[in-house]
Amino acid sequence: MATIERRQFDTLIIGAGGGGLRASLKLAEADLSVAVVSKVFPTRSHTVAAQGGMNAALANVQPDNWHWHMFDTVKGSDYLGDQDAIEYMCRAAPKAVYELEHFGVPFSRLDNGKIYQRAFGGQSQNFGGDQASRTCAAADRTGHAILHSLYQQNIRAKTHFFDEYFAVDLMTDEDGHVLGAVIFNIQDGQIIVIEAKTTLLATGGAGQLYKTTTNALINTGDGMGMAMRAGIPLQDMEFFQFHPTGIAGRGMLITEGARGEGGYLVNADGERLMERYAPKAKDLASRDVVSRAIAIEIREGRGCGPNKDYVLLKLDHLGEEVIQKRLPGIRQTCITFLGIDPAEQAIPVYPTAHYTMGGIPTNRFGQVVVPVKDTPEEPVAGLYAAGECACVSVHGGNRLGGNSLLDILVFGRAAANHIIDYLKENKYHRAMNEDAVSTIVEKIRSYDQPKSNGESVAELRKTLKQVMEEHCSVFRNKEVLQQGVDKVEQLAQRMKNISINDSSHTFNTAKVEAFELENLMAVALATIHSAYAREESRGAHSRTDFTERDDKSWMRHSLYSFENGLDYKPVRTKPMSVESFPPKPRVY
Ligand code: FUM
Repeated sequence: MATIERRQFDTLIIGAGGGGLRASLKLAEADLSVAVVSKVFPTRSHTVAAQGGMNAALANVQPDNWHWHMFDTVKGSDYLGDQDAIEYMCRAAPKAVYELEHFGVPFSRLDNGKIYQRAFGGQSQNFGGDQASRTCAAADRTGHAILHSLYQQNIRAKTHFFDEYFAVDLMTDEDGHVLGAVIFNIQDGQIIVIEAKTTLLATGGAGQLYKTTTNALINTGDGMGMAMRAGIPLQDMEFFQFHPTGIAGRGMLITEGARGEGGYLVNADGERLMERYAPKAKDLASRDVVSRAIAIEIREGRGCGPNKDYVLLKLDHLGEEVIQKRLPGIRQTCITFLGIDPAEQAIPVYPTAHYTMGGIPTNRFGQVVVPVKDTPEEPVAGLYAAGECACVSVHGGNRLGGNSLLDILVFGRAAANHIIDYLKENKYHRAMNEDAVSTIVEKIRSYDQPKSNGESVAELRKTLKQVMEEHCSVFRNKEVLQQGVDKVEQLAQRMKNISINDSSHTFNTAKVEAFELENLMAVALATIHSAYAREESRGAHSRTDFTERDDKSWMRHSLYSFENGLDYKPVRTKPMSVESFPPKPRVY
């Protein structure tokens, strides 16, 4: 094989969103050598699209504390979240926000100068009491503000960036240690072997599984696909979050902050529909509840428009000043993509694929964990994951809005802290597994010879998205899921024969899309199989044939791998230091 460049780092981070950049900053500041590999320029990572904000019990608007935040998160997760991780996250939240403030994030302010906090879904005071305002916001461009500040801090700290490189697969040795990854430069096709003592996956979610999504084109589940090919199961993949207010038929996100500021949903009869489904929290019930409510309104013929296929989000009563100050981004989105100004007209919305709640199983230190013999979880040496590609699991069956930015920052930092300690004990690079390197390099080079009569990547991807939209959406049942399983399995078979027509080495995006499809297909298999098997309704997994939550049989995490199909492990119901919140009926 022609000589291939090799680089060595203490830590390789794959993904340059908030999780990856929070970790890299901590590691670079600890004088470790850190490589961040990103298939897009870092500030184009999907964190940039986060709108409404980040939860932390700062108590800037009303009394609040981390324990109430923990209660809301456990309840929001429909009791599938691991309570030790949730306690850790909610306790760490205020510090995470103040760190960002000191990194330069321009949070919006209250009149008294404190950080502005808005109301978001599923937030309460005093364990289920009145609505809380816990989401720290920079207008409705919070992710943008955070990502740019983190990137600037990383430049200061001298993190090494590989911008516009695609990471194909992890390298492991015979003992199961992860040794880094093989990447290629999208600009010129050059392959590089990155040898790393520790590797952190922070590649974000897989919203591109669905036809209509709030997610960027880059969200193709790359880290999850890499993990599966390395023999690591994916956890709780049946729980895919649909955001209630994507622009109908198009998918662009209209932040939950719009309802936090006082917006509300109406059906074709002009009724405030959420009064029927969540009499207390109304439009600020949790996302699974609001998404189901919209889907039911439409199914029962109360949808708006010529095809009665959306409901309306009303903001005009808030006044132009509030909208311009608190929601300028979504106002611009509506003007650009719909030609309407939400200060004057209601926005057509529909539940839209938004967030992958499952992912690569980790503990609260960011270590990737797998079942070994009779133990439910043992760390995979040298491998970490954080953010949306990981499942720690703080979101369980349903994530609360505003807990995603929090998750990436808290667990990006926690993973970096663990890596720093790990590297004190593991000072040297392990011997490279040359067979693993050759296999991945050959896989990359296989696209250098165009094949005729192969399957088209674009066609398969389009079909996959349609299948997932039709067979694994807000409501599911056995028949629909069984058909979905069959269709995705068939697509996975067809994918073995894909070909691309472009063999150039210069910005060969066809090759990138082929690798992305391989990752999406792995994630789709995990998602549809896990959904078919879970015979209950919990959080975002809503079965019309098993309408109740079944704690006796199903309060457990699913694990799906290529090698073993489905397996399960217990939920960690014991928090770190406080009493456990036992499962209760979940009403809003
Ligand atoms: O609605 C939003 O602004 C989205 C927030 C989130 O997913 O956490």
